[in-house]
Amino acid sequence: MSNTPKLEDIVALAKRRGFVYPGSEIYGGLAGTFDFGPNGVELLNNLKRAWWKANVYDKENYYGLDAAMFKHPRVWEASGHTKGFSDPLAECRKCNTRIRVDKALAAIGVTADEKMTEEQINELFDASRDKIGCEKCKAKDFSRVRQFNLLVKSNLGDFTSEGNEPVYLPGEACQGIYLNYKNIVDTLQPKIPFGVVQIGKAFRNEISPRNFLFRAREFEQADTQYFVRPNENKEAYEQIKKDRWNWYLSLGIREENLRWHQHENLVFYAKDAWDIEYNFPTLGFDELEGIHDRSDYDLTQHQEFSGTDLRYTDPETAEKYIPWILETSAGVGRMFMAFLCDAYRQDELGGEKRTYLALAPELAPYRAAVFPLLKNRPELVAKAREVYQSLKKAGIVVDFDDNGNIGKRYRRQDEIGTPVCITIDFDTLGETPELIDTVTVRDRDTGEQKRVHVSELKAHIG
Ligand code: GAP
Repeated sequence: MSNTPKLEDIVALAKRRGFVYPGSEIYGGLAGTFDFGPNGVELLNNLKRAWWKANVYDKENYYGLDAAMFKHPRVWEASGHTKGFSDPLAECRKCNTRIRVDKALAAIGVTADEKMTEEQINELFDASRDKIGCEKCKAKDFSRVRQFNLLVKSNLGDFTSEGNEPVYLPGEACQGIYLNYKNIVDTLQPKIPFGVVQIGKAFRNEISPRNFLFRAREFEQADTQYFVRPNENKEAYEQIKKDRWNWYLSLGIREENLRWHQHENLVFYAKDAWDIEYNFPTLGFDELEGIHDRSDYDLTQHQEFSGTDLRYTDPETAEKYIPWILETSAGVGRMFMAFLCDAYRQDELGGEKRTYLALAPELAPYRAAVFPLLKNRPELVAKAREVYQSLKKAGIVVDFDDNGNIGKRYRRQDEIGTPVCITIDFDTLGETPELIDTVTVRDRDTGEQKRVHVSELKAHIG
């Protein structure tokens, strides 16, 4: 059977099994928004926990943060987002479909530089108009290109009714870290180099949100910002790149599905930028996470715009300087999607085709599922519930399933990635005396079953 799923297979499984639902679906949907269902939120939280462990608890001198989403409007001027955070947009004159011109150009092999002016991108687009058709109506009749700012505005605290004093939603989560750099230095006195870490929401008015969670208008970013002495960036940058690559492998991503991409056209804040790309089904290799050498750009800008001295004072030499920043920024939705895609497998087991998610146990929504062999035998159900409750009490996230026959339950648990299924049968109750208090434990990936004593279940599940 084919082991190369299409993106639509992943999206269908995500919906069918309660991982991801389209946002506001009963109203016809809201483009670029998604809701994580009961299984999705477990995978999402496990993913964020694993990321946090690797980037805070397993490191030294890394500090967590959870900054407010709304920030002083000047923050986005200082960061460069009110001016430089835009995508080139053109509109089909026949059907009004909007396209991202840089993407449309890239699809025909023409590269548009992020820093191009509106004039320059119009020249580039004009030279290729005959090769770019509307994806909806196929017409080759687009408006002039305009740079469209991606920041999302709110009216928080703006009582003018005209929206003259917009407070923006975060265009990138990392600004909260720069705003609190001084607080962290003043209150915790970390020695440089040190890191500050946050998982926070970001909002972008993406011109054409698409490809499931890949390009959304609301998403989360898992960011680390590492503050280093000026010019002491190179070695640390290489180490950070290595650590991030290995983190994906440690949680089961197959290495052949990852690759590096160095940016030639750097965004306005970056001195060097590398992406870890993932080979997404249907889409091919595309950005999963960005690793950026931001030099002193951010703190210099905030120092200038806020008028607050953001220099770090070396505790031994009293030397003062603006630290340089090395950033890792991963879309949590893109990570979620990559882990889901990588885990998606199809095979044949016992002569039947099946789909399963080979998720690392620490990411799976449930560590285990407990079944009574038969739903209509109260003694089996009572024992199954006893085992289920004891695992829950031991702090294991476990499901109880007595719907349909055992085969159906296995299929359901396979598709949500539950590593082991535990069945309570008549032997558990003592029908075969030497097997009393033992259960069958079935492995998700191999389908192999063995008998395990209930007292050993916790150790077995891990
Ligand atoms: N602070 C740096 C920054 O925001 P970025 O490359 O724009 O850099 C970082 O974004 C990561 O955020 C990307 O690698 C991607 O995983 C994720 N991301 C960006 N735009 C996204 C979108 N529209 N939908 C989902 N994830 C997105």
